[in-house]
Amino acid sequence: MDKLVINGGKPLKGEVTISGAKNAVVAIIPAVLLVKGKCRIENVPDISDVDSILKMIAYLGAKVDKPDCNTVEIDCTNLNTHIVDKELAAKMRASYYLMGALAGRFRKAAVPLPGGCNFGLRPIDQHLKGFNSLGCITECDDVYVNIDAGNLRGGNVFFDVVSVGATINVMLAAVLAPGKTVMENAAKEPHVVDLANFLNSMGANIKGAGTDIIKIEGVSSLSGGTYSIIPDQIEAGTYMSAVLATGGDAIIKNVIPKHLDAITAKFMEMGAVVEEFDDSVRVAVEAPLKPINVKTLPYPGFPTDLQPQIVVLLTTVSGQSTVTEGVWDSRFQYIAELTKLGADIDVQGKRAVVNGGALLSPGEVEATDLRAGASMVIAGLLAKGTTKISQLRHIDRGYEHIVDKLRGLGADIERIDE
Ligand code: EPU
Repeated sequence: MDKLVINGGKPLKGEVTISGAKNAVVAIIPAVLLVKGKCRIENVPDISDVDSILKMIAYLGAKVDKPDCNTVEIDCTNLNTHIVDKELAAKMRASYYLMGALAGRFRKAAVPLPGGCNFGLRPIDQHLKGFNSLGCITECDDVYVNIDAGNLRGGNVFFDVVSVGATINVMLAAVLAPGKTVMENAAKEPHVVDLANFLNSMGANIKGAGTDIIKIEGVSSLSGGTYSIIPDQIEAGTYMSAVLATGGDAIIKNVIPKHLDAITAKFMEMGAVVEEFDDSVRVAVEAPLKPINVKTLPYPGFPTDLQPQIVVLLTTVSGQSTVTEGVWDSRFQYIAELTKLGADIDVQGKRAVVNGGALLSPGEVEATDLRAGASMVIAGLLAKGTTKISQLRHIDRGYEHIVDKLRGLGADIERIDE
């Protein structure tokens, strides 16, 4: 079994370059199914979720080529099936984007219920409601969601909750649907905007992405082209948290500072140094950090995907901080692992009270999901001594070349097969 071994206690210093956004690319690759022609996608992160989604579309008949580890070329001119493989789909949540994409392309789709991180209930009722508003008939059995999109057309959708996945899925289904679609209470995340920009650059007519009302005029076809994925704001926030947790000073390169606003605001409230440049930020600790209260919210709020990372950071800060989870029902399972390293955190429902200040001890912990895994890595980097982390498949899903990137910042970290 592979493990990360970290000899922690050293401040991270230097520079790190952020990769393309996981949650953008896992939507844009399925979107290529709507394009008859060749798409070249650049700044693709070299992570296992990308491998999984590429395998899924290759199974459907897409021609996939990887000229280098950060570029993919996909030709979906000829596809042979609308039925997605069950085992491949179980590996990741974003397999559900194949529902909207296949409904648009084939006017029918059979997609297994998705896998992904376990945060308690992860319903897809808003996705199905959206498809139904566009004239589709949906039916779920124990394994598959079957969509009959024979009458696919534009429609009005008002989402009851703000959902990234449902917003993206309805966008995918609506792009080639005749007529006008209006989504209200849509998600505003940068990856929603990136998908809309990709689709528009291939000939779609989508307006309003990045606001809570998105309007789509259906077009008859999309053509191929080249597109570059935006930087991953969650990877950036993860490295920023790691630098601060170790008392370091580093430049985080290839970011869109605007996408980090909620994150930089919280770090500045803690008293950290955050300097913004055109496409990079410097973060540093120059005075003791202060405790804060954080609540995760949909964008532009503080992202839930950085909640475990900021919790570890707050264990280093003297005093009491609170972190409230405002998106998922249950995203504190990893705290049991942090407790093994001596963290003093009291979970009360959706709120974690962090009694910070005592340095974490090294130990053996598991990555219980993707972002929880990132928080274990930060814990290992700050605890003085040797920490071992297992279940790396979770981390591999979303962090490109994490060992090399952290070594570039001076960390003593290696991956071993134990
Ligand atoms: N929800 C419903 N019904 C639905 C869909 C969602 O009630 O039909 C609820 C969820 O239960 C949750 C909230 O709405 O309470 C938000 O869920 P959302 O649909 O926005 O999440 P998602 O699309 O499944 C994406 C990211 C997650 C990230 C969330 C929130 C991808 C592939 N995944 O998930 O990312 O936590 O948005 O920002 O984009 C990660 O990268 O580690 C990750 C888990």
